[in-house]
Amino acid sequence: MVMVTYIEPNGSEQQIDVTEGWSLMQAAMSNGVEGIEAECGGSCACATCHCYVDEAWADRIPAAAENELAMLENVVAERRPTSRLSCQIKATADLDGLIVRMPDAQS
Ligand code: FES
Repeated sequence: MVMVTYIEPNGSEQQIDVTEGWSLMQAAMSNGVEGIEAECGGSCACATCHCYVDEAWADRIPAAAENELAMLENVVAERRPTSRLSCQIKATADLDGLIVRMPDAQS
């Protein structure tokens, strides 16, 4: 299990043990994290699973692929240097302790 802290738009925190190989989006949806919609179900086609990776972790997660970067053009909330699509980040042992924040809006 990979412990990930999700910070919801209102500042509430949820610590979730994510199964290795699951995406951050899957774990968020399964645990009722507020501030995520994931309309396309993880196909990198909706940009409603936008999250902000904590700055301390930004260089420790695999870089976004071209299709993710393209889809990040469509996020509704402010796009920041640490913006990612949570369906494209898979939980691995390296990410134990990761912190992600949900934006104010997804659609
Ligand atoms: S769930 Fe649609 S892009 Fe991530």
